[in-house]
Amino acid sequence: SNKAVLGPLVGAVDQGTSSTRFLVFNSKTAELLSHHQVEIKQEFPREGWVEQDPKEILHSVYECIEKTCEKLGQLNIDISNIKAIGVSNQRETTVVWDKITGEPLYNAVVWLDLRTQSTVESLSKRIPGNNNFVKSKTGLPLSTYFSAVKLRWLLDNVRKVQKAVEEKRALFGTIDSWLIWSLTGGVNGGVHCTDVTNASRTMLFNIHSLEWDKQLCEFFGIPMEILPNVRSSSEIYGLMKISHSLKAGALEGVPISGCLGDQSAALVGQMCFQIGQAKNTYGTGCFLLCNTGHKCVFSDHGLLTTVAYKLGRDKPVYYALEGSVAIAGAVIRWLRDNLGIIKTSEEIEKLAKEVGTSYGCYFVPAFSGLYAPYWEPSARGIICGLTQFTNKCHIAFAALEAVCFQTREILDAMNRDCGIPLSHLQVDGGMTSNKILMQLQADILYIPVVKPSMPETTALGAAMAAGAAEGVGVWSLEPEDLSAVTMERFEPQINAEESEIRYSTWKKAVMKSMGWVT
Ligand code: G3P
Repeated sequence: SNKAVLGPLVGAVDQGTSSTRFLVFNSKTAELLSHHQVEIKQEFPREGWVEQDPKEILHSVYECIEKTCEKLGQLNIDISNIKAIGVSNQRETTVVWDKITGEPLYNAVVWLDLRTQSTVESLSKRIPGNNNFVKSKTGLPLSTYFSAVKLRWLLDNVRKVQKAVEEKRALFGTIDSWLIWSLTGGVNGGVHCTDVTNASRTMLFNIHSLEWDKQLCEFFGIPMEILPNVRSSSEIYGLMKISHSLKAGALEGVPISGCLGDQSAALVGQMCFQIGQAKNTYGTGCFLLCNTGHKCVFSDHGLLTTVAYKLGRDKPVYYALEGSVAIAGAVIRWLRDNLGIIKTSEEIEKLAKEVGTSYGCYFVPAFSGLYAPYWEPSARGIICGLTQFTNKCHIAFAALEAVCFQTREILDAMNRDCGIPLSHLQVDGGMTSNKILMQLQADILYIPVVKPSMPETTALGAAMAAGAAEGVGVWSLEPEDLSAVTMERFEPQINAEESEIRYSTWKKAVMKSMGWVT
C-alpha cells in the first residue's frame, strides 16, 4: 500500500486574505499529497474599510482540514502519519477576542483597511525625538497597514473591547495567534502566542531585541498584557485540540510547530536562505522579499525592514527587505465582484489574450492608497487612457499589466537599496498560473521570471518550519535535501525600449492617482 512508501507527513494551514488552504506534504520528498481551499468573504462596511469574520476564518480552517483528510483517505493515506502542523497567514490583520468566552469582540480589521488614516496623521505629529522613532525600532513607516493603529482604533471605538481590556479578558492577535489559540484548545487552555515574523508587522515589536517594545506600546497606548508571547518560527507551540469539529479532530494531539507570516513562509518555501536571494509572491497583494542575512538593512527607497524567519529557539534571526504592493490579485477579484466583467478569476487570462495589449489604457489599482515605494495614503484607483475603442479586454489586460508595473517599481527600489541588481525573479502564488501575466512580467522587468512547478510555496515554507522543529525533526532543512525543484522560466520577449516606454507611461498614470483624498 501507499503507507509503506510514505515518510512522515506534515500539514500546513495557509490562511490568506482571499482564501484558506490546508495542505499535506511528504516530509521526505516535499511532494504535495493533498489539499483543500475555501474562499473567504471580505466586508466593506464603509468606503476604505475592510473587515473579515474571525469565526468564518477559523471555520474555513476546520473545513479545509476535514476535506483534506477526507481526500487523503480516498488516496489510502493514513492521516495518523501527519506528525506536525505549520501555520502561515495573512499578516497585520488584527483580532481582539475574549479569552473567557472565546468570542471575537469585533470583526478582524484587515491589513488593507484605511480607517486609521486620521489616527496615523495625528500620531505622526507627536512622534517623539526624531522622525525615525518608529522606523528605527520596527523597520516600518507609520502607516494604516500595520496592526498597532488598527488595535488603537478598536480600543478607542469598540465598547466591548474597552470593557474586556478593563476586565482583563481581552487578547490581541494577528491571524496566526487567533488560529493557534483556537486550534490548541481556545477557552480550554489555548496557547496565546505569535512568531517573530508576524510580530514584526505589528509596529509594536523591536526587531533588534526581538521583544515587544515598551516605548512603542506607550506611544500607541497599547496595554502590553493583551499581547501574545513571541516565539521563534519553528518550535512546538502546543498540541491540536479541536472540540468543535469531529472530523478535523482526527488530528488531535498533533503538535503545531511552525508559524510564519505568509510572505516569510514563501521565502522559506522558495529556499531563499542565502543573502541576496529574493522571491515575489502574487496573492491578494504582491510582496517581494530579499534575504539580508543577520543584518537589518534600512531602505532609502520605500522598502520595509522586516523579520524574515528564525527557524528555532536557539537559531539566529534572518531579516529581509520587503517591497509591499497592496493590490495584485485583488484587482482581478474587483473586476469579477464589482464590475462583473469576468465570472471567474481565471477568465481574465482569456480576455487579456484576445487583445494582447491594453491599447494605451492604464489601470492604477490604488484602492488602499499606494504602498511601496510611495506610501501614499491619498492615492485612489484610476483607469486612464480610454478611447471609444477601449473595451473590457483592454481593461483586463491593463489590470494584469498593473500587477507587473507595481512589481517593477519595487524591484527597482530593491536593486537600488542592495546595489546588486537581481539577475532573475523567483515568483510564486496563485496568480502565477496565469501565463500571460508571467510573460508580461518578464517583459516589463526585462529579466527572466522563474517559477517553481509546485506553486504552493507559502504552505511548503510553513510545513518545513513545522517539520524541522525541535521535538518533531521529520524535515531536514539542509540545502542538499531541498534541490530537485523543477522550474519554469519566462524570458523577456519585447525589446528593451518598448518595455521602458510602457513603464514610463505607467509612472505618469501613478502620478495622476495621487492626491485624490486629502
Ligand atoms: O501583508 C499582507 C500579506 O501577508 C497578505 O498576503 O497572500 O493574502 O496577499 P496575501
